[in-house]
Amino acid sequence: MSTRDIDVTNELTVFEDRFRETAAAFFREYERTRAAEPDTLTRVAGPMLRWAKAALGEGYADRLIEGYCFFVMEVNRAQKSYEKNGRYEYETFAAVYEKAYSNQDFMDLYHWGVYCSTFVWHHHLNIYKFFESHFLPLVAKKGEPGQLVDLGAGSGIWHLLALGHLSGWQATAVDISEPSIGMSTRMASTLPFAANVKHVCADATSWKPSEPMDAGISCFLLEHLERPQDLLGSLAGALKPGAHAFITCAITAAEIDHIYEFRRESEVLVLVESVGFRVKHMYSAEPETTPADRKYLPRSLAMVVQKRHNEIW
Ligand SMILES: C[S@@+](CC[C@H](N)C(=O)[O-])C[C@H]1O[C@@H](n2cnc3c(N)ncnc32)[C@H](O)[C@@H]1O
Repeated sequence: MSTRDIDVTNELTVFEDRFRETAAAFFREYERTRAAEPDTLTRVAGPMLRWAKAALGEGYADRLIEGYCFFVMEVNRAQKSYEKNGRYEYETFAAVYEKAYSNQDFMDLYHWGVYCSTFVWHHHLNIYKFFESHFLPLVAKKGEPGQLVDLGAGSGIWHLLALGHLSGWQATAVDISEPSIGMSTRMASTLPFAANVKHVCADATSWKPSEPMDAGISCFLLEHLERPQDLLGSLAGALKPGAHAFITCAITAAEIDHIYEFRRESEVLVLVESVGFRVKHMYSAEPETTPADRKYLPRSLAMVVQKRHNEIW
């Protein structure tokens, strides 16, 4: 076992012990995911826990667990209201800003909850597997290192996980939230490839690079926007023809800050094609625990797309 493996095992053990002790009911989901995907979980949770420790300090495990439990309760509350009313709670950015984004304590907890759901939720871990198996190899095929952009980067996990595989690549992380940028900058600063990440606080729907990029990522931002097509247009505009991008979004999955309701996978596909992408791979993942009698099946959609050279290609 290498020193790096020992580090990862230590972080996982600390996190698991605290999770089991302090939130046994929520820990069951983690145990189910670990039983199904032990290796993928270690590959994702290992580095993510180290990054969280770098950002939060010694009490990081308790903060993550508190955030995760808060997030799950909040998601369940929002989904229940959606089942009852047939629509998401808020439809405008302004309303969500007032209820959630402007509340720093709420957002701090929420942020770490979203972070943990990447590896605690089995269907989200499967999305990571899809990223690793269907997106990263296409990007790596380029041969020499290139430029990657992550729109709505949040904590930065997607481009940081990508850079772990893409030696020498540089990433630009774009996010509209100053606290998110601050957090991802702190996390990235502890990594050997820290100098390869640039952070930009800007609206991703209108952001433009100085030079076209070689690959793109935008995870779980589309459903937060009033006009998701603007983000897709901005992503397509930022890339070189032929470049690949990885896009994810939520479908019939309510959260306090989800305002654009996608009901079918095809709705996302049509938008993605309309801005100049070709869809190469698509994966729709749902939690195994949704009861069959529910009106909505909350799920997450992931796509690997390629920027077309012209209207036909
Ligand atoms: C649900 S989080 C997803 C974060 C990250 N991509 C992930 O999957 O873990 C959505 C992120 O998009 C950011 N965001 C919201 N509207 C944005 C906009 N117009 N431009 C750039 N970032 C935006 C938020 O600040 C937040 O960090």
